Amino acid sequence: MSSKSVGSEHRGGDSVCNVAIVGFGTVGRSVARILLEHPPEKLRLCLIYNRGVDKKKVPWVQPHVRWTERIEDVFAPDIDIMVELIGGLKPAQDWIRAALLAGKSVVTANKQLIAQRGTGLIALARQQGRQIGFEASVAGGIPVIRGLREGLAGDCLFRISGILNGTCNYILTRMEASGLPFASALKEAQDLGFAEADPTDDIEGYDARAKLAILAQVGLQCAIDPSEIGCRSISVIEAIDFAYARRLGCTIRQVSQAEKSAGDKAQLFACVQPALVSLSSPLAQVQGAQNLVMTAGKYGGKTVFSGHGAGGDPTAVAVVSDLIAIAGRGREPGGPVSATETDSSNSSHPVSGEFSSPHYVRFIVRDRPGITAALATVLSNYRINIDALLQEPGMEKSRLPFVITLEECSNAVLERALEEILKFDFHVQPPVSLPVLS
Ligand SMILES: NC(=O)c1ccc[n+]([C@@H]2O[C@H](COP(=O)([O-])OP(=O)(O)OC[C@H]3O[C@@H](n4cnc5c(N)ncnc54)[C@H](OP(=O)(O)O)[C@@H]3O)[C@@H](O)[C@H]2O)c1
Repeated sequence: MSSKSVGSEHRGGDSVCNVAIVGFGTVGRSVARILLEHPPEKLRLCLIYNRGVDKKKVPWVQPHVRWTERIEDVFAPDIDIMVELIGGLKPAQDWIRAALLAGKSVVTANKQLIAQRGTGLIALARQQGRQIGFEASVAGGIPVIRGLREGLAGDCLFRISGILNGTCNYILTRMEASGLPFASALKEAQDLGFAEADPTDDIEGYDARAKLAILAQVGLQCAIDPSEIGCRSISVIEAIDFAYARRLGCTIRQVSQAEKSAGDKAQLFACVQPALVSLSSPLAQVQGAQNLVMTAGKYGGKTVFSGHGAGGDPTAVAVVSDLIAIAGRGREPGGPVSATETDSSNSSHPVSGEFSSPHYVRFIVRDRPGITAALATVLSNYRINIDALLQEPGMEKSRLPFVITLEECSNAVLERALEEILKFDFHVQPPVSLPVLS
């Protein structure tokens, strides 16, 4: 790193930080617009990089901002902060490393990269005396990373839960409000731009688990390999599940949860799954593509963060807030050098997916006498107690949906019981079990 290789952080506290945006897509455009319409003190957008950049140029970007399709320009001495907004692991990881090695600070909205490679990148930033901000990588415009790292730093958090995927929440709340089948709600979400053409990452929970891994690292000080977090798909949910959930005073949401047990050898439980949540819970109030994060702390109790979890503008607000924090912080000796100080471990924490809770199990069967007795026998063999049996009136007997609710039991034990139950010949489709969260 040459002495003239970086800007304001070496030029002294009063000077301006030069910013380069890498990736002029949905979020990149919104970041540029905020930086140009309301230039924050000490920040100047001066470079926009994208491949095939000529196609990207827009008239509202002022002439002092240069456009480039040469990534090397971003690593040049006149740039102080690189904003990575291309997404994906490669080449984003290489470019962030190159920027840090060239003495730049970095801001990114890239959840997969931070969840999978954050530890190494944060270590490199620290080694370089530079900062890496990733507020936008979780829950879009909701300042949850800063809330955990700064606002709740004085507490000992033991649980983080929430709705971290706006696409799933949009689909589930549409099914809830209008009785749409899953496939129609998904198609509507795609037509409106809330879901991608390939929605696998959202529906299967992979997007939410990357965000949960970041939250667990920042809030619970547990580095987790996101692929160790168990995920269950929301695609098994049917419109009838909302009718039965309502009869139980509940609705259905994709819930991400991470919980750390007390003690020296703390166990970490984490999973992403559809679950029944009480209609009075903050989770049930989350509508459309909104996100919500709830924390529980030993001293401060519960805290809730909610707002727009995605979208160009809300996500850009988080990016610009990181830029302002970096520009304001400068490089005082002994001052914070990284957007997280919690990342002390390089090894990932083992994750358990086992928990106990009451459960909702929905069956669709060809009706005949003896079905409930057969189910009750298997469940009792596994020492699982039935709480109630619900059946909507007037359903077709050849495809009869009904629900059994179960008293608190282990999800692993229930899974084994359901494997045995699946061997009966009366199923029209496999049963669906959902935890009922208190
Ligand atoms: N959109 C949201 O609501 C949201 C919310 C939270 C976080 N994020 C995160 O923000 C980041 C950006 O998302 P986005 O929605 O703005 O994506 P986007 O609209 O697809 O924009 C990505 C931009 O980067 C460019 N790009 C991609 N790969 C490139 C490469 N290898 N070389 C050069 N340029 C490349 C693309 O150029 P082309 O047009 O040529 O492909 C495009 O202009 C992602 O990490 C995403 O996960 C997005």
